[in-house]
Amino acid sequence: MDGQISPLAPTPTLLADYQPYPFDLSRTQLRFALAPTATRVIARLHLTPHGQIADLVLDGEGLKLQRIEIDGVAVTGYHLTDTVLTIPAERLPRAAFVLETEVEIAPASNTALEGLYMSNGMYCTQCEAEGFRKITFYPDRPDVMSRFDVRIEGREPVLLSNGNPVASGKDDDGRGWAEWSDPWPKPAYLFALVAGDLRHISDSFTTSEGRDVALNIYVRPGDEGRCGFAMEALIRSMEWDERVWGRAYDLDIFNIVAVDDFNMGAMENKGLNIFNSKLVLASPETATDLDYERIEAVIGHEYFHNWTGNRITCRDWFQLCLKEGLTVYRDQTFTADVRKGAVKRIDDVMTLRARQFREDQGPLSHAVRPDSYIEINNFYTATIYEKGAEIIGMLRSVIGEEAWAKGTALYFDRHDGQACTIEDWLAVFAEVSNRDLSQFKRWYTDAGTPEVSVRETWEDGRFTLTFTQSTAPTPNQPDKPARVIPIRVALFDPSAKMLGTEQVLEMDQPEQSFCFDGLAERPHPSILRGFSAPVMLRLDPTVDHRAFLFAHDTDPFNRWEAGRDLALAALAALSNGAPLAAASDYLSALGDFLADPLPAPAFRALCLQLPSDDEIAKLLCTQGDLPDPDAIEGARNTLSAAIASRHETALVALYDAAEIAGTYSPDAEPTGKRALRRAILAHLTHIDKGVRAQQAFANAQNMTDQIGALGLLIAHGIGAQASAAFYEQWKGERLVMDKWFSVELAYAPKDQAVARAEELAGHPLFDWKNPNQFRALLGGLAANHAAFHRADGAGYRFYGDWLLTLDPKNPQTAARMSTAFQTWSQFDDRRRAQAQMVFAKLLGTPSLSRDLGEMVERLAKG
Ligand code: TRP
Ligand code: ZN
Repeated sequence: MDGQISPLAPTPTLLADYQPYPFDLSRTQLRFALAPTATRVIARLHLTPHGQIADLVLDGEGLKLQRIEIDGVAVTGYHLTDTVLTIPAERLPRAAFVLETEVEIAPASNTALEGLYMSNGMYCTQCEAEGFRKITFYPDRPDVMSRFDVRIEGREPVLLSNGNPVASGKDDDGRGWAEWSDPWPKPAYLFALVAGDLRHISDSFTTSEGRDVALNIYVRPGDEGRCGFAMEALIRSMEWDERVWGRAYDLDIFNIVAVDDFNMGAMENKGLNIFNSKLVLASPETATDLDYERIEAVIGHEYFHNWTGNRITCRDWFQLCLKEGLTVYRDQTFTADVRKGAVKRIDDVMTLRARQFREDQGPLSHAVRPDSYIEINNFYTATIYEKGAEIIGMLRSVIGEEAWAKGTALYFDRHDGQACTIEDWLAVFAEVSNRDLSQFKRWYTDAGTPEVSVRETWEDGRFTLTFTQSTAPTPNQPDKPARVIPIRVALFDPSAKMLGTEQVLEMDQPEQSFCFDGLAERPHPSILRGFSAPVMLRLDPTVDHRAFLFAHDTDPFNRWEAGRDLALAALAALSNGAPLAAASDYLSALGDFLADPLPAPAFRALCLQLPSDDEIAKLLCTQGDLPDPDAIEGARNTLSAAIASRHETALVALYDAAEIAGTYSPDAEPTGKRALRRAILAHLTHIDKGVRAQQAFANAQNMTDQIGALGLLIAHGIGAQASAAFYEQWKGERLVMDKWFSVELAYAPKDQAVARAEELAGHPLFDWKNPNQFRALLGGLAANHAAFHRADGAGYRFYGDWLLTLDPKNPQTAARMSTAFQTWSQFDDRRRAQAQMVFAKLLGTPSLSRDLGEMVERLAKG
């Protein structure tokens, strides 16, 4: 059965086992006759054997084979298993031939949302990574690239596939048909089909090469008014990719379709991107500033894949970071350029630490290019995506701008139309920079987050920074040789004047010193500016420059980081039972910062946001302390209240000054002001009895302000009325209801959250089979640190039972959500035992999917 564990333990796929496919597949012709329970798929594969004689092996899962012919003659003697169709070499022609198969599939009963499935009566597909094999028999691997011609027959008014439209019409019986042809060879994972009663908005774009491109966004009837922002974002993405990367679009049409039931964010199918509707639909009343920003980023991300992913694709799934790391790097720099400037880097580092560092320091740690996997869907991780993007940024700073420009141009030139590896990617940069990048490559092959410690010495006008690097062992990788670590550094004199210019120090040894001579006074160093490498920096404990840097650093990231470090130190001390005096350094540095008139609202907002409970817990662990979720939550509230009472006047003044009149705009400037007001409100609510939060909720003119205030009211136990009002107002809006489910649990008082989760799981509007809703509810609970990690295990049990419920329907999403457990082993024995009981229950379930099974086995190792 689909996705179910076999009685034998599943065998891992190994990078070392790669073999090229022994056939060329120049053309693929597909014909779909759509019907919910019996869709017929006829596939004609134009195959040519490569020299040597080989069996023809095709992937196929859950397909009812009706017919199989070679050059028009029925094939006999083939072999069929649950997952593979094999035609022995001796039954195959020695030269080019056409294999035709006809299969039947049932999209209406496909709840895994992989292959061809239905969402609200509309047909759609998701083929990455290995979903195409659920549509027809095919070599479902990314290094087999083919030109696709597709004919779709169905009663739906809109029938879409990849490439350019060729023809369409209606048969006498009212059935429609449409033919599409994609001139660009592509692997099967980029195939897409959509059919339904959809509405669309249109625009157009003329490329730098003079091609007129029709742009369409397709949505459910009634949603047409909420796609304008996504369309603008698409046009900005197309302009940016031409301007910054010299990459133009290559078809006459670009279609985007929004789908409610979707396992992830969005998918870059050639010329027909499919999106989770929450990443397309936006109006000021229903979407937050963060939603707007994400929509723009993901529209960009999927569009940028057209070159980094589609025109140049991956040889095998071990190379996933080749397209994902690079494309995340592209979307991050796009957002920084067109929207947020330097604060984008701070956001990205916060995400990296919250997701990737957490992954890399726990049982799920793996290399950016792993060498083995059981279920590839489990490797669409923060490590592959976000750390993959960090490596691109480091490569760029290591080789310099000139080589970067030459290398990227050479990459597109040399590898267009190919399925490539990380070796191919690195080779172009080694070539243009004349450097040996083999040590740099360890960033791809070695898992784990390096720890870099700094020691300072000052003697006779010579300032020396000595760095040591080490990386803790990770699963199956005990030894970690030194890596290349680019460390951006600047020095300031005591009057805060920068000495010389910023430099990139390149570390490539376990220990290394860098000297700065001829200095009149001992400088203040600013180290790892812009977070120039994804490492944990341990500053010299004998000197403390943090208050100085928080006041004066010209690098926005390091200025923010200095304040963050002070806050974290205070929170760690408070969590360990220290009195409030432990926070006085931080509180007075914050006072100086608030008195500085220059920082922009968005930057101020980031500096006022306290680290999450999860981050505090991690810090305590690395200090050798046992984190207590209740104490951590208490510490965060204590510090927040102290910030409010100590700096009330300054905060109130900033809060009032950041008020915006007039109509909503998602632009960076008003977004920054709203973020600042929200960050301040979080502190002031501790001392004003919730008066301002109540006002903010009552006066909210947009979802950003409304949901922000609601979360605070709930957190302070005064949200019941607001929550009921919110529910009444928005119960008809599915995307807003996701927010409501999530906020109800994320902010609920820790002793009430699990009971509330149980209640909401039975709510008539809660549909657990919809991944967005499942994620809203379970993700909301997991975000409530003290509730999820409750000492009596109630949070773990509730969560584990829901994973077990979802698993048979949608193993991919169940497996992905299991990552909430990845920090379980850092807590006390009582909590650990509770988590282990949940793992035992899951692993004792005989029908557990391969997806969730692999995850729980890895998690359980702690
Ligand atoms: N390639 C997609 C992206 O990063 C992500 C993706 C992989 C995906 N598998 C998926 C999306 C399954 C949805 C469902 O842009
Ligand atoms: Zn991607």
